[in-house]
Amino acid sequence: MEVTKWMVHVCVFLVIGVVHSQIVTQTDLNNIADNLIVKVDVIRNYDNGSLHLIKVTFNNKASKSLSGYNWKIYFYSFFIVEPSHILSKDGLYTKPDGYTLPNVNLKLMHENGCLFSMSPTSEFIGLPHNEKREITFSAALWAISKTDFPPNWYMAANGLNARVISSTKGDFVGEFTSDKQWKRKKADKYDPYSPSVRYHRYKTTNSNVQQIVVIPTPKEITNKDHTKLLDVSGNVTIVHNGLNEEAKFITDKYNFDIGKTASTSGVNIYLFINNSISSSEGYTLSVNPSARCVTISGKTNTGVFYGVQSLLSLLSLGNNLQQMEIRDEPRYEFRGMYVDVSRNFVSKTVLEKLMDAMAMYKLNKLHLHLADDEGWRIEIQGLPELTQIGSKRCHSERDGICLIPQLGSGPDTSTSGSGFYSIQEYKDILSYAKKCHIEVIPEIDTPGHARAAIIAMEARYRKYKNTNVTKAVKYRLIDPNDTSKYLTNQLFNDDAVNPCIESTYVFIEKVVSELKAMHTDAGHPLNIYHFGGDEVAKTAWVNSTKCEQLNFNFSGDTASIRNELKNYFTQRVANITFTHGLNMAGWEDGFNAGDGMPFDISMYQNQHIYSNAWDNVWEWGEARRAYNYANAGYKVIMSHATHLYFDHPYEPDPEERGLYWATRCTDSYKTFGFQPDNLYQNIDVTVMGASISRAGICKSNTTCPLLHKPKNIAGMQGHLWSETILSEDNFYYMVFPRLLALAERAWHKASWENVIDETLQNSMRKRDWDNFAETVGKKELKRLDDIGIKYRVPPPGASNEGGEIKLNTVFPGLNIEFSTDNQIWKTGTIRDTASTVFLRTKSADGRRTSRVVQFETSTSTAWTIQLSFTTITLCSFILYICLLRH
Ligand SMILES: *[C@@H]1O[C@H](CO)[C@@H](O)[C@H](O)[C@H]1NC(C)=O
Ligand SMILES: *[C@@H]1O[C@H](CO)[C@@H](O)[C@H](O)[C@H]1NC(C)=O
Ligand SMILES: *[C@@H]1O[C@H](CO)[C@@H](O)[C@H](O)[C@H]1NC(C)=O
Ligand SMILES: *[C@@H]1O[C@H](CO)[C@@H](O)[C@H](O)[C@H]1NC(C)=O
Ligand SMILES: *[C@@H]1O[C@H](CO)[C@@H](O)[C@H](O)[C@H]1NC(C)=O
Ligand SMILES: *[C@@H]1O[C@H](CO)[C@@H](O)[C@H](O)[C@H]1NC(C)=O
Ligand SMILES: *[C@@H]1O[C@H](CO)[C@@H](O)[C@H](O)[C@H]1NC(C)=O
Ligand SMILES: *[C@@H]1O[C@H](CO)[C@@H](O)[C@H](O)[C@H]1NC(C)=O
Ligand SMILES: *[C@@H]1O[C@H](CO)[C@@H](O)[C@H](O)[C@H]1NC(C)=O
Repeated sequence: MEVTKWMVHVCVFLVIGVVHSQIVTQTDLNNIADNLIVKVDVIRNYDNGSLHLIKVTFNNKASKSLSGYNWKIYFYSFFIVEPSHILSKDGLYTKPDGYTLPNVNLKLMHENGCLFSMSPTSEFIGLPHNEKREITFSAALWAISKTDFPPNWYMAANGLNARVISSTKGDFVGEFTSDKQWKRKKADKYDPYSPSVRYHRYKTTNSNVQQIVVIPTPKEITNKDHTKLLDVSGNVTIVHNGLNEEAKFITDKYNFDIGKTASTSGVNIYLFINNSISSSEGYTLSVNPSARCVTISGKTNTGVFYGVQSLLSLLSLGNNLQQMEIRDEPRYEFRGMYVDVSRNFVSKTVLEKLMDAMAMYKLNKLHLHLADDEGWRIEIQGLPELTQIGSKRCHSERDGICLIPQLGSGPDTSTSGSGFYSIQEYKDILSYAKKCHIEVIPEIDTPGHARAAIIAMEARYRKYKNTNVTKAVKYRLIDPNDTSKYLTNQLFNDDAVNPCIESTYVFIEKVVSELKAMHTDAGHPLNIYHFGGDEVAKTAWVNSTKCEQLNFNFSGDTASIRNELKNYFTQRVANITFTHGLNMAGWEDGFNAGDGMPFDISMYQNQHIYSNAWDNVWEWGEARRAYNYANAGYKVIMSHATHLYFDHPYEPDPEERGLYWATRCTDSYKTFGFQPDNLYQNIDVTVMGASISRAGICKSNTTCPLLHKPKNIAGMQGHLWSETILSEDNFYYMVFPRLLALAERAWHKASWENVIDETLQNSMRKRDWDNFAETVGKKELKRLDDIGIKYRVPPPGASNEGGEIKLNTVFPGLNIEFSTDNQIWKTGTIRDTASTVFLRTKSADGRRTSRVVQFETSTSTAWTIQLSFTTITLCSFILYICLLRH
């Protein structure tokens, strides 16, 4: 009897076991992770409120069934999944219980930030070998490009090592073939560029296109004569006094001598300081064939350095230098590039290469975003937890090991989600920057965007709390009793340091001192400390008793208390930096007192307070801050997201990398056309691409204040936020060649910028661009190839012009290849082909190619005809209206 009962138990166990065996061994988990084929498709972005619908297909190619209840699959979403079920009613935080998808019995949970998970409920029906299952769920807003779905989903089960689901390492997102997939709303004006659109956008109408002598364009070039040449292929001597570092930039590339005295037989290059030059970065360069010399003079070493860079640019065209005299100086003192190394890390080598290019194009500030929610990237003497824990992202069942995976970083520390600069590496970066005449501006983002630091300091707290409480709490960044619930734009619920506890300032003081010490050691003094200050969640600290004790009592007017608290925090950080003799910088919202006005600058003792004006989505109405802040005495860095955010895509195409919250796309032409001295002249389109005018946006000088203190516009900066920058290649792709357009505008004010008449301005700008594009395509891209920078190779444009297929690219001179089968590539004239041709562009050095685009040779004719038809209709309509009105 006993035996029978026992046998029944076994049988029941076996039956359940067959259907629902748990994942118990590492081999099981690996087998599933390696063989579960995951595919993601966007079903639609509109037609059901502000939600997009996602389909995930699981195809189990593993030898075993995916069953049991003890596993979880982790994935990433930039927007909250199933908001109506997962968000609180007021949308201020996520509910802890997740949401079970009906029918499939999978529970979706928001972990933190962009990390979500799905796990089986007890009703989950296993997915047997070779079977498929589709699940659909919604998420807020939209997903219109492949990079909206970060790779490296992973599977975890208690006690086992989590493992990437192999199929999500590469291209696991389905094609975007309908406008419901690539448009955010019905009203979204953007479709992916067809080759024809591209062709017409970049087509040159100017018959007299000429290369620019040097990029960025010098202020003045005189005495230019291409018939008078100085041949530098023979013996060349560089003669200078104390400008060895600058001379070395020439001898690193060219086999020239360095001598104390001029050679009598060969060519001489003279480098010297010239005090009569007025601009501290100004220089003169003259190529004098009759005297067989080049002279470069600068007000300072930096000026000489820029003269040397211009000479290197001339030399890149060959050994015969044309006679000319250049007198040059920058438009702005601040010509920056911003790099976020927190969301994803890049090595020191990448930054050095970036600086090589920045030096070539005379950019002089490197703003490094060293800490954010997703990672802390700089070693700080005495606070090892910041890098031991805060620089790593991994899946861990225990606290205090690492940060949770984000942005496609996967379960372990092998990806760009992890990494930091050691003290030595940071000093190396500083020394390198110094040689390139670049100032490094470190940023530690506070009080929001500080999760990495908070998690690290909590680990430190736990490490010492039982042995030395004083030590444990010394650098603590939160009040553990503060129960305030909040959710940031990036979906974190625990990323704001508490501004009402002393230890926060002890921490900031420590970090500032250590940064300063590293700078001093490297002979690159710290000048500006950037404290971040952006995007603090609305309801952070509202229930903090520590804030109440400091008389920041949120039960009154929450918004104004929050402002007072922000005011207090910025002043305290400013005081710390002032004590160290530094200037302070912050994102504009960090200083925002409300109504687009900054805090009274007199409350800061620092010589200068810099602010990055970034939040300029025109229809949101905050572009006013740039001029309001400048008028109020802040040094404003034009950082406008619509034109200067290089994390945004080049084209409105689902295949192009990048976020698009500020604008759907920014190509080099758009950045080139940015007018920093004339902000409202840049008003062009809404986020959805609808045309807007200055008159339509600038209703009053409250919405568009005038600039009364132009001297306070310090300069401009390009920005690489790195949410989607998962590799070194991604990095170069997004920065280059847009950086050249940035440099052109930051150094040189074009004549068309002062032209008010829009039509005239547009045509002048296009002519200037044509010359610029010609120079980039035929000269500069090769120079980037030479230093190993893998810039984006632009896909071609094409147009069927009366039966003849014409091709172009944004940068003339790059070779274009075509194919009828996407396999065998040819160059030359396209004839007698099928209706579809595949096209791609080659890099200047011929080693890389653009993404492949398809051109419908026949429909393009139809398109052209249709366009002219539409044009005719439109014109008749306008004529009709005109007639009616008169
Ligand atoms: C629209 O979204 C809501 C909320 O997510 C969902 O319940 C509903 O089924 C959706 N409607 C359609 C037609 O998909
Ligand atoms: C170049 O310099 C070398 C070594 O100083 C000398 O032998 C040679 O004659 C020079 N050539 C010319 C063309 O002056
Ligand atoms: C020094 O600079 C001044 C001002 O640009 C210029 O006129 C002069 O020619 C320069 N001197 C030399 C020796 O190049
Ligand atoms: C505890 O830590 C503090 C701060 O680091 C230190 O000054 C003190 O000496 C430590 N106390 C003991 C008993 O180790
Ligand atoms: C948190 O609150 C408890 C209870 O009031 C108190 O004992 C404790 O000291 C508080 N912790 C901190 C860090 O203030
Ligand atoms: C603050 O505390 C009150 C009372 O417990 C609670 O109702 C409210 O939701 C809390 N606010 C936040 C933002 O956590
Ligand atoms: C905070 O303000 C509320 C309402 O204004 C008041 O009742 C409360 O006593 C204040 N708390 C403190 C600590 O000042
Ligand atoms: C900053 O320093 C000034 C001058 O010492 C002082 O008056 C002010 O109270 C300090 N600000 C804060 C918020 O501590
Ligand atoms: C506001 O605009 C008017 C013209 O519309 C101008 O006269 C006035 O000076 C402006 N005020 C400020 C403060 O810029």
